[in-house]
Amino acid sequence: MGKIDEKLTGIARQRCAILPTPVHELLALSKMSKCRVFCKRDDLTGFGFGGNKARKLDFLISDAIQSGCNTLLAVGASQSNFCRMVAAYGSAYGMDVHLLLGGRKPDISTGNLLLDHMLGTECHHVDSGDWNEWEAKAAELEVSLRKEGRTVYRMPIGGSTAIGALGYVEAMSEILNDEKRLGLHFDAVVFASSSAGTQAGLVVGKSIANWPGQVIGFSVAKEQERQQQDVFNLARETAIRFGVSIDKKTICVDDSCLGAGYAKHTKACEDAVQLFARKYGIFLDYVYTGKAAAGLLDYLKADRFVPGSAILFLHTGGNVELFA
Ligand SMILES: Cc1ncc(COP(=O)(O)O)c(C=O)c1O
Repeated sequence: MGKIDEKLTGIARQRCAILPTPVHELLALSKMSKCRVFCKRDDLTGFGFGGNKARKLDFLISDAIQSGCNTLLAVGASQSNFCRMVAAYGSAYGMDVHLLLGGRKPDISTGNLLLDHMLGTECHHVDSGDWNEWEAKAAELEVSLRKEGRTVYRMPIGGSTAIGALGYVEAMSEILNDEKRLGLHFDAVVFASSSAGTQAGLVVGKSIANWPGQVIGFSVAKEQERQQQDVFNLARETAIRFGVSIDKKTICVDDSCLGAGYAKHTKACEDAVQLFARKYGIFLDYVYTGKAAAGLLDYLKADRFVPGSAILFLHTGGNVELFA
């Protein structure tokens, strides 16, 4: 058993995510660059249409069950992948689900919102784009649900708590096994970073295992400094239970593909989405994975990786949004 698995022993988690996720080489990208480029398919975690949130929710749901909660409350944009996954987990575990969804209530429910309704979720819309306002409204909603006598498990945007991040501590262990199976060492893992849980978990896993590769988050919601600080804060909090320390300087965030902000399309993202769809039959999305893929393509074109490196693109899901 590896160091990470040892540290995770005894921490309760459900096993809804179908793991390990596959890893395969993106041969055309390897050919056009001086690196070998691989894709880890966390879009194929299976449960509830998959994506990175399954790894987080396997731990979060266990925590909710252990806390004796009967109601899940989550916050996100109206096309939130996380909220859709909370709806699926809550429904499967017999809990009521309330979603606080930011943005104008659409006339027709599409994409993730369509699935939220199919799963029998109670959706509360807040016509605002301000994440702080969403969290404040969720806090108010929690109070009123508690007044009704419910035991509420409230999760912040993206499920990025020190419990949710454990999903990606564990994913780092899986990446070490992928390396063994493929007979290589990844020099970097690159992916979309937003509410920070994915990156914080990987950073903590890296620290536990002393993994020498880089963990590079392409920020899709905030500028570099703020995202780096958010990842650092959550990684430090997550790391406490494992007795490892986190050095802020080693947290690598790149905001060059953010464009005008969260969920604002960029040409580079659209091109990356099209390339992955047409070349590989892999569907990315325009909010997260398309921007991360655009960042990866920039790095390859600019020879930002040492020639001969093996690079792992972590596909974190999100493609239900294509149907929105
Ligand atoms: C598809 C997808 N990729 C990446 C991310 C970013 O992960 P995190 O919020 O853990 O930084 C999210 C979460 O919001 C997501 O839905």
